[in-house]
Amino acid sequence: MDITCGIDFGTSNTTVAIAKGNHEPIILVPVEDRHLTIPSTIFFPQENQPVLFGRKAINAYVAREEGRFMRSFKRVLGTSLMKEGTIIGGRKTQFEHIIGPFVESIKNKAELVADQEINTVVAGRPVHFVDGNDKADKEAEGQLEAIFTAAGFKDIRFQYEPIAAAFAHELTMGNTERLAVVMDIGGGTSDFTIMRLSERYIKKPDRQEDILANAGIRMGGNDFDRALSLTCFMPLLGLGSFWGSKGLGFPITPFFDLAELSKIQCMYTRKYKRDLRMLISQSNDKVLTHRLLSIVEEELGHTLMSIVEDTKIQLSACDQTTADLAFIEAGLHSKVEREQFEACIAGSIENIQDTINNCVVMAGVKTADVALVILTGGGTAMPMLQNITRRIFPHADISDGNRLSSVGFGLACDARRYYLGEH
Ligand SMILES: Nc1ncnc2c1ncn2[C@@H]1O[C@H](COP(=O)(O)OP(=O)(O)OP(=O)(O)O)[C@@H](O)[C@H]1O
Ligand SMILES: [Mg+2]
Repeated sequence: MDITCGIDFGTSNTTVAIAKGNHEPIILVPVEDRHLTIPSTIFFPQENQPVLFGRKAINAYVAREEGRFMRSFKRVLGTSLMKEGTIIGGRKTQFEHIIGPFVESIKNKAELVADQEINTVVAGRPVHFVDGNDKADKEAEGQLEAIFTAAGFKDIRFQYEPIAAAFAHELTMGNTERLAVVMDIGGGTSDFTIMRLSERYIKKPDRQEDILANAGIRMGGNDFDRALSLTCFMPLLGLGSFWGSKGLGFPITPFFDLAELSKIQCMYTRKYKRDLRMLISQSNDKVLTHRLLSIVEEELGHTLMSIVEDTKIQLSACDQTTADLAFIEAGLHSKVEREQFEACIAGSIENIQDTINNCVVMAGVKTADVALVILTGGGTAMPMLQNITRRIFPHADISDGNRLSSVGFGLACDARRYYLGEH
């Protein structure tokens, strides 16, 4: 065996890197045209048409082609939805038949570039797929392992995503040992590793003694999107309005379903739409709730969530922005200030901060001793998280290169060490 790979199957984006041997560099695979990352999305078109992935899936959805668009399916691992499945093209479909083709397409891409079959993989995983439930967490890893096996891998190992990012960083850091914290804030989870790093350690066959602690929480960009959607967008669709002759609050479930990326497609069944229409027939504010109904009936939930996500991303760079919601109604828009966004995610950020502090305690180090913070994952672009990082680790240098590909690259470093016995 002279080739192996690392796959970072992310909630939002996926990368794959291949490793041959010591004398050849690790290659990040152009996984969609020339792009080194592919959005973790899938589009199931009408029958007899090929399934689409990544940007092509997004484009088919945006062009309103007939079919079912899905994203954030990693979040389903270890949850009850994994067993329940979802309806696609009128048929109940299990999530392994949704994640499976996506993983297989990534494997095929890597093999095309390598020009040979690849049988082994180090796959990334969050520290916790599911919080506070070891059994569900184990199940999630087992489900992902079964999916990788079905995709044709003969041997699969898992590595924590932040450890992989540390390996990638280590290749370029020089021979001085530094105590480092990796912070990986992705779409689905926030993961942390405290580890001793040095370029001279790359040759060590076993790194266990250098890894001081890992911690993670199932909270990431998708949760920030949900909070932003519920606070600044859903009230325009009737969240907080009244219902029925007694003037009760309009039920909140449809708004929460519409704000959770991994659940949106569950709203598009005939039954869900019928029930929603019934509910809305007794709404006391039909101008608002008919907007909700039209989004569900026209299956535009992902259009709304991508506007919400864009709003969040813009607020990393500016203090306020206006989201254009003309696709719902001419002239409709939502003006959002960064302060407002930060207030609605304050609870999530506090949980993330607690997770970092726990990691420091578990590692038995002082925050002042941390010399390097490696930021990876799209969420680390958020000013609020960057400020927290500086506050917790005041003496550390901060490195944030390769935010979107360091995990995949580092997984291939690990695969090379494990499967090829090389570094
Ligand atoms: N400039 C930005 N400001 C805020 N958030 C951003 C920015 N750029 C990207 N994001 C968010 O980062 C998330 C995607 O990050 P990333 O690609 O690292 O996730 P992932 O690796 O797919 O997820 P995970 O590791 O949790 O499975 C999305 O929620 C995206 O909206
Ligand atoms: Mg990630």
